[in-house]
Amino acid sequence: MTTGRTAVTIVLAAGEGTRMRSASPKVLHAVAGQSLLSHVLSAVPNSSALAVVVGPDHEAVEQEVRRARPDASTFVQRERLGTAHAVLAARDAIAAGADDLLIAFGDTPLISAATFERLREALEKGAALVILGFRAADPTGYGRLLVEDNRLIAIREQADASPAERAISLCNAGVMAFDGRMALAILEKIGNANSKGEYYLTDAVAIVRDLGLEAIVIETSEDEVHGINTKAQLAEAEQVMQTRLRKAALDAGVTMIAPETVFLSVDTSFGKDVTIEPFVVLGPGVSIKDGAVIHSFTHIVHSTIGKDARVGPFARLRPGTSLGEGAKIGNFVEAKASTLDAGVKVNHLSYIGDTHIGANTNIGAGTITCNYDGYGKYRTEIGAGAFIGTNSSLVAPVKIGNGAYIGSGSVITKDVPDDAMALERNQQSIREGGAARYREMKTRGRKPEK
Ligand code: UD1
Ligand code: CA
Repeated sequence: MTTGRTAVTIVLAAGEGTRMRSASPKVLHAVAGQSLLSHVLSAVPNSSALAVVVGPDHEAVEQEVRRARPDASTFVQRERLGTAHAVLAARDAIAAGADDLLIAFGDTPLISAATFERLREALEKGAALVILGFRAADPTGYGRLLVEDNRLIAIREQADASPAERAISLCNAGVMAFDGRMALAILEKIGNANSKGEYYLTDAVAIVRDLGLEAIVIETSEDEVHGINTKAQLAEAEQVMQTRLRKAALDAGVTMIAPETVFLSVDTSFGKDVTIEPFVVLGPGVSIKDGAVIHSFTHIVHSTIGKDARVGPFARLRPGTSLGEGAKIGNFVEAKASTLDAGVKVNHLSYIGDTHIGANTNIGAGTITCNYDGYGKYRTEIGAGAFIGTNSSLVAPVKIGNGAYIGSGSVITKDVPDDAMALERNQQSIREGGAARYREMKTRGRKPEK
């Protein structure tokens, strides 16, 4: 830890990302369910002041900054004249004069917090400039680190490199750290006399050398610093991130027999003894509690899966779905913005939207909550211990009472009252059914038929 030193971090996110061939800004593309930019913002030191440089008309990027790090300030780079020019757009943040000035790119999402600390330690030992380097399997497109007699003397960009320089595999990762007291003077010396006519941040190395100061390289693995300029590189970074997330999930005790087919998000949270079968996609905002099982070919986003719940195979849980303890969602069931209390069963071929279902209610095959009339969305309220017969349409807004029994093929347009006696009967049969099945299982030594 670098204690007692202040830091300011500048994250560059103003580039157009032309090579992504996309209408949305590059840094808003996602890896493991989170934007490239928010990955970077969550890796920068917590104690550091944070400045993000965004392009003009990048309102969406500014919004993402405010969401991920409300404490950050944003600066607009009006013209995209290169990475050094972008850093100077945040001149006020640099001039504030922290001990360490850290610079990161918004398109390098796999960077870790520990790496920033390594760079800061090197500054503390006296370097004026620290460059994060890596050995690239294919260095094409990266700036090459020119080293002579073990000393970093310059960085050469791809477009300006000679054939011999292009053969160098030691590359600039894009993350660097300046002695904060000298940074502004160094950055202001950078010109644009190169083949692209851009102000290259990487020219800082040669300038530091000319001033007789020390610039050094700290190496890291390529996996940490994949720069994303194209969709192919986005896919590679996703793969690296998924490998990390799967390993972390397995280490935490999640059972996955084919982890390479399971897709996770950075914020996926697991309880104990969770099982994820092959071919499952868990998008952002998913929390799965103890003992739950997610069967194959299930897609879940922004949902909570209760203790011992079962989902799938072939289920789709859309944002705002919450399953209580032991709830069951079967094949070809879609749910959205709905809360299913403990023990609810929706086993086959149903759509449940904008709905609350009370405990232990059974929803028959083919039940649809008709939540949309072409103009507005309406809620369905289903009580506890109710039974909805197969192929029923519940036309919202509608309320089905506790213990209510809906016959097969019904179209329900009016509220259905509670059936207190049926509720008691149902609850009792659930209790006794459970006990009876358990006794049977004990004596026969196998799982009873449902
Ligand atoms: C840059 C480095 C290169 C390094 C590579 C690592 C320079 C000149 N080159 O090249 O040495 O190996 O990253 O991935 O620094 N940006 C702005 N404003 C601009 C230009 C860029 O904000 O005017 C931002 C981009 O949004 C991006 C970052 O700076 O987040 C890097 O720019 P990019 O064009 O991707 O640089 P590379 O060509 O990848
Ligand atoms: Ca880049």
